Amino acid sequence: MDTTMRAAAFLDKGGVGKTTTVAHVGVALADKGYRVCLLDLAGKQGDLTKHFGLWQQAKESDDWPNITTVFQDEWDTIADQLPDAVDQLIMPTGEGPDLIPAHEGLDGLESLLGSIDDPSDRYARLDHFLTEYLDERYDVLLLDLPGSTSNIAYNGLWAARHVITPVRAGPFEQEQMSQLEADLDEIRAGQDIDINLALVLINEYDERKTIDRDLFEQLSSEYAEVLAPEQIPSSQDITNAQQNGQTVFQLEQPSQTAQRALAAYREDAHELVGRMAPSETEIEPEASQS
Ligand SMILES: Nc1ncnc2c1ncn2[C@@H]1O[C@H](COP(=O)(O)OP(=O)(O)O)[C@@H](O)[C@H]1O
Ligand SMILES: [Mg+2]
Repeated sequence: MDTTMRAAAFLDKGGVGKTTTVAHVGVALADKGYRVCLLDLAGKQGDLTKHFGLWQQAKESDDWPNITTVFQDEWDTIADQLPDAVDQLIMPTGEGPDLIPAHEGLDGLESLLGSIDDPSDRYARLDHFLTEYLDERYDVLLLDLPGSTSNIAYNGLWAARHVITPVRAGPFEQEQMSQLEADLDEIRAGQDIDINLALVLINEYDERKTIDRDLFEQLSSEYAEVLAPEQIPSSQDITNAQQNGQTVFQLEQPSQTAQRALAAYREDAHELVGRMAPSETEIEPEASQS
């Protein structure tokens, strides 16, 4: 494969399933033979890193360089003088994908990035790092972004161009989708780059619930092009596995619901790759059609 595919999980809201989605889609793609790297950019609490049981190890391992280093002015010099700088950032998850863990200093990056006047530099640092140092190693890069608009989130969206958005049925999801489109429009307009919603998936979907069916109907009409082929059921196995530092792919005896979740993740991951593949016609985001 000559072009690395990149996608970022983003919605200006916590607790919808961004981290869980990145982990499971990542493992599904690695299972299919893609070389996958996951980047935990969602904040210093390291949720994605914890999802693979690596948080303690990440904190104890040699602290520098780390994910925050790649955003700093000196990064290229560091990478130049320290030939294994990139290797030092990467940890194998043991489930297929590699991982670049979060770091305590992530939240402090906000002010560093905020102090850069030129937006084409402020928002492009991650893109530069991925292009120069990771693209050659991987087929797929998946970014877990903060559940809020921030300079790091903008860096992730700028670098990924493809957005994965899990939504959960609830009173505000319509507002969240409008906010998402506004956020993407802002970057598109300000920076003259195209960012596509590539995959919208309903998380913790239960077709027996009216609120879930209604959301499905609504997204099927408004986001027909980008709605995932399979929605993800709520499964206690997912929560439990996560607390044990694993995805449900590792369970020896997944429950029936977990098996449905696994099949859905595989199908959605396959679809995502089809939508990101450079040979495919790019999907027009709804927001730019109106
Ligand atoms: N399909 C699911 N079934 C059961 N629990 C889930 C599912 N998806 C996510 N969760 C749980 O919901 C919580 C929030 O998910 P998370 O992926 O951390 O959301 P976000 O990254 O958007 O904040 C976590 O505790 C996770 O274990
Ligand atoms: Mg998260």
